[in-house]
Amino acid sequence: MKALLLENVHPLAEHILKEAGFEVETHAGALDEDELIEALQGVQLLGIRSKTEVTERVLDSAPDLYAIGAFCIGTTQIAKKHAAGRGVVVFNAPFSNTRSVVELAIAEIIVMARRLTEKDKALHEGVWNKDATGAHEIRGRALGIVGYGNIGSQLSVVAEMLGLKVYFYDSDDKLALGNATRCGSLDELLEVAEVVTLHVDDRKGNAGFFGAEQFAKMRPRSLFLNLSRGFVVDYDALREALLSGHIAGAAVDVFPKEPKKRGDAFTSPLQGIPNVVLTPHVGGSTEEAQEDIGRFVAGKLRDYIQRGTTTLNVNLPGLSLPPRFGGKRILHLHLNVPGVLGKVNSLLAKHEVNIEGQALNTAGEIGYGVTDVAELPRAAVAELLAMPETIRLAIIDG
Ligand SMILES: NC(=O)c1ccc[n+]([C@@H]2O[C@H](COP(=O)([O-])OP(=O)(O)OC[C@H]3O[C@@H](n4cnc5c(N)ncnc54)[C@H](O)[C@@H]3O)[C@@H](O)[C@H]2O)c1
Repeated sequence: MKALLLENVHPLAEHILKEAGFEVETHAGALDEDELIEALQGVQLLGIRSKTEVTERVLDSAPDLYAIGAFCIGTTQIAKKHAAGRGVVVFNAPFSNTRSVVELAIAEIIVMARRLTEKDKALHEGVWNKDATGAHEIRGRALGIVGYGNIGSQLSVVAEMLGLKVYFYDSDDKLALGNATRCGSLDELLEVAEVVTLHVDDRKGNAGFFGAEQFAKMRPRSLFLNLSRGFVVDYDALREALLSGHIAGAAVDVFPKEPKKRGDAFTSPLQGIPNVVLTPHVGGSTEEAQEDIGRFVAGKLRDYIQRGTTTLNVNLPGLSLPPRFGGKRILHLHLNVPGVLGKVNSLLAKHEVNIEGQALNTAGEIGYGVTDVAELPRAAVAELLAMPETIRLAIIDG
């Protein structure tokens, strides 16, 4: 089994895969389509970050590929549906940088409440600006978290530890952690919050979700943060709200149009406004997050190959499976049409194969069946492969 890791994936990933018995080849950079096709011959596992495009053509030209690990959060660079149709599972790391985003949000709330960017700038310019006016503690302040998912809910816990009173609004019914108070609507949250922070997901319906109307409803002199997605907020409206003094400070990490690479030019209507912290989409960018991404995704790839586990993958049905000691495990990715499991079981019965354990999950057009057996004759494997519903068949030795 061979793994190809591109784009400087964290060394921990290479270590985990080597320990699991894979031959690992690494490349510092991304590969273009033709280079990737060539490099993927004889490769079962591919690890990439955001710059490698795994197109339909790449997938069609990589018959040996079993799984792709996106060592990042986003997976738009991969033709996921096409991969599913070819029985190639895709994993990513949805939680590895959660804590990093939370810590940046907390830091920024304090930086804004103490107006530190202004004091820092003045002192760098040689001006001793010792003044308590407009500088506040955050203890006891009302924090309004919009979007109570992985990041929002962890922020809730950490913020409470610092003495903030947490209110949250989520469009889904979420469990309130600690002493957090659920708000029934965004307006309800905007009425109470002195700091509003957005952690909603990137669904299309969230485009322009926070604009002039919402800024007007925020409490006077409150603070605003967006570390979710740039297109969610109308930044021209935020600029107006800041210039009028209605909003006392803002911290923004994400923008509707972000430069493609380090060093590229950047413009925003928020530049040059006092008490505004601008960061280049670094909420999740820490060495700890990179290491955790390496550990998490490499572990998912290993567990898929060694036991067939597909939990938290992004394009195929998920199954969590215990390790198998002895015997064989049949991994059968198939078209999700009625009767496939019955066909598999009859076929095994015909070959006098006793089923010791079985699991099935389906998602959309794809079904994933896993069957544990003591012995598996070659003829049964050939018949499973020949089933018109079979997308991919793999046999693991226990
Ligand atoms: N700045 C960074 O570097 C960075 C790093 C990681 C994630 N993110 C972004 O942070 C955001 C949150 O990430 P997550 O992992 O917590 O996502 P998540 O999917 O776990 O949580 C999002 C939550 O928002 C809620 N939601 C969606 N639309 C809503 C709306 N209009 N009103 C109220 N609630 C709404 C959902 O129900 C969900 O609970 C995402 O947009 C993600 O892309 C940014």
